[in-house]
Amino acid sequence: MSEKICDKIYWIGVNNPEGRDFHGVSTPRGGSYNSYLVKGFKNVLIDLCNVPFFDKFILSLKEVVDLKKIDYVIINHAEPDHVGAIEKIMKLLKNAKIICTKKCKEFLLDCYDLDCEFELSEEFKLDKFSFHIFPMVHWPETMMTLYDDKILFSSDLFGTEVSHENLYALKMKNFSKLTLDYYSIVMRPVYINVGKAIDFVKGLKLDYLLPSHGPIYTKKDYLKIVKYYDKLTNNPEEKKAVIVYSSIWHGTEKIAHLIKKNLKGNVILYNLTESNFVEVMGQCLTASVLIFGSITMNNNYFFLFDSLFNLLKLNHQEGKKVYTFGTYGWVPSGINKMNEKLTEFLEYKVIDSLEVKFKVKDDTVVKKFCKKIKI
Ligand code: FEO
Repeated sequence: MSEKICDKIYWIGVNNPEGRDFHGVSTPRGGSYNSYLVKGFKNVLIDLCNVPFFDKFILSLKEVVDLKKIDYVIINHAEPDHVGAIEKIMKLLKNAKIICTKKCKEFLLDCYDLDCEFELSEEFKLDKFSFHIFPMVHWPETMMTLYDDKILFSSDLFGTEVSHENLYALKMKNFSKLTLDYYSIVMRPVYINVGKAIDFVKGLKLDYLLPSHGPIYTKKDYLKIVKYYDKLTNNPEEKKAVIVYSSIWHGTEKIAHLIKKNLKGNVILYNLTESNFVEVMGQCLTASVLIFGSITMNNNYFFLFDSLFNLLKLNHQEGKKVYTFGTYGWVPSGINKMNEKLTEFLEYKVIDSLEVKFKVKDDTVVKKFCKKIKI
């Protein structure tokens, strides 16, 4: 189903309320892959869709335009969620040329058999459109398209992986937690480039901000998502502790729960083996203090922590404050090894540690440890 946004501009997207995973992010409210049509002197389609949504997409498009009358397809980003069905779609758009960056053209031709003409956004001029190339705002070929200086097709930037309960963000129930999850895995690894793109958008006065994922924004509310992205990029921490633990025989788990009970303020607790790692990555990004607890197993900390640490490396938060705790049976090596990893690999600052043989019998030792933790 298509939807008119304003004079000449239509949403031709795909809503996918059933989607439950995106880039390793759990998506309890589904996902969406927006594309847009600008009708006018030239009919211009902006971004496409992935293969499973081809039929739905073409039906929506036909509601508002004769496929033979589409002149250009602007591809802001070559990732399959936006172009996976490009071969099938371009066969139907017989008179359309693709506009994209030079790198995007290379990627598209690497991945798909396309028999159509290209115009490069580095040099091509089209009516009221302007192309703003920001590499690595997710991939190396990414750009944003601005129409009439006031409608921005921002691609992945300012997106949220959520289906549209309403096309307009203003009419959706709060989804900021989902924005954080999406931002963490898609944007944070390239936050320096993301920051440059955000600065560009801060200099615009927009009527509409139209990302490729999630609901759309009007001039009334677009600065809210810009500010949230800006905060996550430049100043993500808030007063919050995130405890992440692993446990087999509940000794480390007991300490984790005692720490949560004895700390005041916003404290979030994750059992590593039961948690979505990308969600934990986002919560760690926005926390002022991290507290990691592990068993000692095979003379080391629990092996799944290495997957989490690889994700946390992408948060780029050297100097982050971290406390560690854990249990051991005969050799107290797990927490030492974890402290080494946190210091050398993540370049975090380990403030203090608590390590207990088998299990805590007297809670006082944990209470004493908690007194040292400053959120
Ligand atoms: Fe929505 Fe980077 O793809």
